[in-house]
Amino acid sequence: MILGIESSCDDTSLALVQQGRELVGMKSLSQTEAHHKTGGVVPEVASREHSKAILPCFQALLQESGVNMKEVDAIAVTQEPGLIGSLLVGRTFAETLAMIWNKPLFRMNHIHGHIYSNWLERTVSEDFPKLILTVSGGHNDLYLMKGHGDFEKLGGTLDDAGGEAFDKVARMLGLGYPGGPLVEALAKEGNPKRFPLPKAKVAPCHFSFSGLKTAVRYLMQSPEYQKEERADLAASFQEALIQNFIQAIKQALELHPVKELHLVGGVSANQALRQALQHHFPELSVISPIKLSYCTDNGAMIACAGFWMNRHHEA
Ligand code: KG4
Ligand code: ZN
Repeated sequence: MILGIESSCDDTSLALVQQGRELVGMKSLSQTEAHHKTGGVVPEVASREHSKAILPCFQALLQESGVNMKEVDAIAVTQEPGLIGSLLVGRTFAETLAMIWNKPLFRMNHIHGHIYSNWLERTVSEDFPKLILTVSGGHNDLYLMKGHGDFEKLGGTLDDAGGEAFDKVARMLGLGYPGGPLVEALAKEGNPKRFPLPKAKVAPCHFSFSGLKTAVRYLMQSPEYQKEERADLAASFQEALIQNFIQAIKQALELHPVKELHLVGGVSANQALRQALQHHFPELSVISPIKLSYCTDNGAMIACAGFWMNRHHEA
């Protein structure tokens, strides 16, 4: 049983996971409200919110799951990447617990955590390699996963991450934060073919979304666009983003013909993206987190990564 602790951005989340799969309990506190006014995360505000939330989350998790710290085999915490003030809250908390309870401490990479979110509550095949697309507010990468903990980065974004592009376009459209779900909901009512938007010209398996974001801004200022067409713009933007992902995945598949494509990170909650990938790559099994709460930052994925990447650890 592993206690996972995540605090790298704007979610304080602690979870208990057994055998790298079974969720025993999870307690999360999102800071969405605190960052709503600013339309994005203010690091100083985020760290203060984490320091208020972490102890109550931990106490509630133990109480509600009925688990005693004696039953916990190890602690896994997000070490990097993320906002340093936010990371420090989780890391200091985890180090203190590990010291008091004399537990092994696994320092995890946040992106590896997202990758293992697909192992939660399902049995994933042991066939490797697998192709992994991670898309969040802070990262956007393509990996070839050759085995547990063995990741080769094939490419990444040269500027903005997909989630960041969603958030910025949401702000331009006056929708609020976090932008992804709001843009997705609006896009459902729009025509994705109404506004053709550019596909970035980048090296194979890489991404770039700042040109797309600028194209949306210019379009909104041009006479071609009317305010009533907000839904069409949201749908066209989402479609352009999806086409960028498809292009990079096609390039990766030419180099590495795999059977499984994993989609993880906050943006993997997007149903249009999930459907488009399955539709474009019918020969692949496209796997994304089984619950939407496992797509965005959460402690369960960190515990899960801690399990699979330290299976040979002697307690
Ligand atoms: O993984 P995550 O919680 O935090 C980071 O590690 O960055 O991802 C948050 C990002 C935000 O940019 C948010 O707008 C995006 O994921 N997101 C979505 C959806 N739900 C969350 N983007 C598109 N469609 C969604 N349904
Ligand atoms: Zn994340």
